[in-house]
This record gives sequence, C-alpha cells and structure tokens, in this order.
Amino acid sequence: MATSIQKAVKSESNASIVLLADKKTKWLSYNLSEKEVAYIQTKLKADERLIVINQFDRIIFVLIPKDKKERFTQLEDLRASGNKICSALNAHKQTGVIIEDVLNDTEAALALAEGIALSNYQFLKYRGEAAKEKNSLQTIAINSKKLDKKDLERLQITVEATTMARTLVNEPQSYLTAPKLAEEIQKMGDTAGFHVEVLNKTKIEALKMGGLLAVNKGSQTPPTFTIMEYKPRGAVNKKPLVLVGKGVVYDTGGLSLKPTPNSMDSMKCDMAGAAAVACAIYAVAKAKLKYHVVGLVPATDNRPGENAYTPGDVIAMYDGKTVEVLNTDAEGRMLLADALAYAKKYKPELVLDFATLTGAAAAAIGQYGIVCMGTADEKTKSKLKKSGHNVYERLVEFPFWDEYKNLIKSDLADMKNIGGPVAGAITAGKFLEYYTDYPWMHFDIAGPAFINNNDSYRGKNGTGVGVRLLFDFILNATK
Ligand code: BES
Ligand code: MN
Ligand code: ZN
Repeated sequence: MATSIQKAVKSESNASIVLLADKKTKWLSYNLSEKEVAYIQTKLKADERLIVINQFDRIIFVLIPKDKKERFTQLEDLRASGNKICSALNAHKQTGVIIEDVLNDTEAALALAEGIALSNYQFLKYRGEAAKEKNSLQTIAINSKKLDKKDLERLQITVEATTMARTLVNEPQSYLTAPKLAEEIQKMGDTAGFHVEVLNKTKIEALKMGGLLAVNKGSQTPPTFTIMEYKPRGAVNKKPLVLVGKGVVYDTGGLSLKPTPNSMDSMKCDMAGAAAVACAIYAVAKAKLKYHVVGLVPATDNRPGENAYTPGDVIAMYDGKTVEVLNTDAEGRMLLADALAYAKKYKPELVLDFATLTGAAAAAIGQYGIVCMGTADEKTKSKLKKSGHNVYERLVEFPFWDEYKNLIKSDLADMKNIGGPVAGAITAGKFLEYYTDYPWMHFDIAGPAFINNNDSYRGKNGTGVGVRLLFDFILNATK
C-alpha cells in the first residue's frame, strides 16, 4: 500500500509536523515553547533550512524552501527534503505527519508530500523480517488553504503508480516472466478501468512478429505482447497517443552473453520501460483523464538457449524488413521495432517509447536524466521537456541526423542490429526510426531506471522513472 496523502483535519494536533515556513514566520503561534523558538532562531542565523526539534513523542520540522531562480529546482529541493524528513519520521516510529503550509504555497506543500511519500516506498516481499523492517509512517496530511481535491488525488495516484512500477522492476525474473508481466498488466487494467488484451505466442507467430520471436528463441518461456487501451468518453484527442515499453524481463545478452557479475546483475530491470508505460496508463485511467491512450508491451527474456538466435542470423521483422543480427545483446530494438510497426495501425497522433535500451545512454549522462531523440515536432518536444522539468526527470535530446543511419547499414539485409563503437544510443534510435511513420520520440532510460545507490526520494533499485513524466505530459495535454 502506498503512503496515504490526505487533507489535514484538526484532531491530529499531536502528530509530527513540518512547518513549511520562512524566516519571518511567527513561531510562537505554532505551539512551540520559547526555548524551542530560540533554538530555531539560532539555526536560522546559521542558515540552516531544515531544523529538527525532537519532542520525543513527535518531531517538529521547520523547513525553509531554498531561494532558487527556477521554480522546478525549488520544488525538487522540497522533494529531497521530504526524503530526509521521511527517514527521521521512520527512525522515530512516527505513523503520521502533518505538513503545515505556513507559506500558503500549495504546490510546494504537494512537492514535499510527494518527496516524503515516494521515499517511504519499500520492497520487502522477500524479507523474512519484513514486519520488523516495515516503515512506521502511513499517512501524510496537508494543511494548505488552497489545496484542491483533484491535485491531492492526482498526487496520490502518481505516487501509487510510481511505486507499482518500482515493484515490477524490483521483482526478479523467476517471478516476473513475460506471461506474468502480462497478467500483472491485466490486473492493473481491471483495477483502473482500461482494456487489456494479451497476445500469446501462437498469436504472435500468426502476426509474424519476427523480432520478438527471434529474441524469445533461446527462452523456455513464451513471449507475450500486451495491448492496453484507455479510451474515455469525451477524450480531447482524436487520434490516440501510443506508448511502447520494452519488456525484456531479463537480459543475459543471449549468445552474445553479458559478462557477469557486473553487467548482468541488475538486468531484471530491462522491463522498466514496460513498467513505466503500463503504470502511467494505470494512473491516467485512475485519474480519469480525458485522453485516449494505447500501450504496447512486447515481452520476453533474452537467453542463450539451445535454439537461441545467433550473431549472423537474418530475421524478417513484423513489417517485412530484414535485420542482420550481429549482437544478440542488442535485443531491445528487435522487439521494439515490431511494436513500433504495430503502432501504425492506430494512426497515432504521437508515439513515445520507453526502453532501457543502451549502456551508451547510461554512460553519456548517468542516472540523472533521460536520453531522448525522435521525429516529433518542436512544440511536442518542448512540452515533453517541460514535463521533464516539472517532475525532475530531465530530458536530454540527442542529435538524430540521418548520417547515423550509415552506421547500421548491412550488406546482407536491410539493416544490422548494431552500429559501431560510437553513438550507440543514437544508432539504436535510428534503427527504431525505420519502423515508424508517425511523429515519435524514443526515451532511453538505461541510466535512471535502476540505481544501486540511494538517490533521495527515488530510492534504491527500481526508480519508476517515466511514470510521473508521462502522467504530467498527458495531464497537461488535457488542460
Ligand atoms: N538492456 C541493455 C541495456 C542496458 C545497459 C540497460 C545497462 C540498463 C543498464 C541492452 O539490451 C543492451 O544490452 N544493449 C547493448 C547494445 C549493444 C550490444 C549494441 C549495450 O548497450 O551494450
Ligand atoms: Mn541486451
Ligand atoms: Zn536489454
């Protein structure tokens, strides 16, 4: 269960509180002793912005937002403070906290609540001592004059959807096989109210999805191709937005085996794109946004089985193009190509794909942003980048010049599935472009999808990156 975020009610006066304040705040009106006020004054003089008063049965936090030129960095700073506050609350076994919006800045109060709630996420399914390890914090109440019910509800939904995506990523492949992933998405559709159709191997073979089937050849488990559709009455878009997510539930590299331990350890995260897409649609449906969205998730594991596809193979893809496989570890583009070609039948207004596609993207910018590229118009790109700032999943657009196509030319087939030693993230994108005929953006989330260190409210391991970005983008499109 995600941490509950609600409107504050008066009776909770004995709970821990965060005073979202500034230096001019009249501290005495908040039930603080003179000694405590003196303490706050000294800390403020020392320019501290997060002051902690431990009253044993509860904690009082004074939080002074940083003066920042840009609003989005200030909001991010509040989420990060939420992370510190969450740790302190759990360390002191607090079950609730109230955010007192002294500044009358509802957006700031919501960002703080978001940071606390996302920080409170845990994945304890496989822990024997889970009951003991479970965080105490359960509710965050916000006392803010202009707090809108809708904003509160949307925050609760995005927190829930983001943590769901984290859990899907954190589940190992022994549990989360391709059929299981499809089943989980089906359940999400039942809960939130969107349609889910799962194509099984027979259907995928009938459709001749050669890319997905090639990657699946080394596996003992059949592939799935999951189609989600949320089409509310009164949708503001005439043609659907199609979201495509890479659903490689585990990537060994196939016959082009990845070296272990380092590069294979976290490869259960290779379906993070699928998780982002499915959970974003879950959030959009739950929030009943008036937007027509389709989701496509091609899923399989990638293994060096007896019958595995090999370097040197030529594969006929879903749209009939042929690919010379020179590295079976470049598997993501094989199944995404089929899904992108399949997306054409929706005559989409825009297609966005999310994929942990290349180590090159991760190497270029690390875990601090999302590499993107594509053929969407400038207006769409700038809206996406704006959402990237709003939710602090910042987008870095890579060049997408046609010359990069030279790097994936093949003598034998229509293209090969790897480029050379340079521009690996871009040649992967260029490969995908061959399968599109609509405005499209590709998001390579290999860097931020799964992290080994604790990064503020993003936590450790699966981050759920992409969910908040997509939700913000779609929400703004309905406004
Ligand atoms: N799933 C990997 C990319 C990846 C790397 C995701 C690190 C998350 C963290 C992808 O399938 C892959 O193996 N890409 C290869 C492509 C290469 C063979 C052209 C890579 O980046 O090395
Ligand atoms: Mn791979
Ligand atoms: Zn992969």
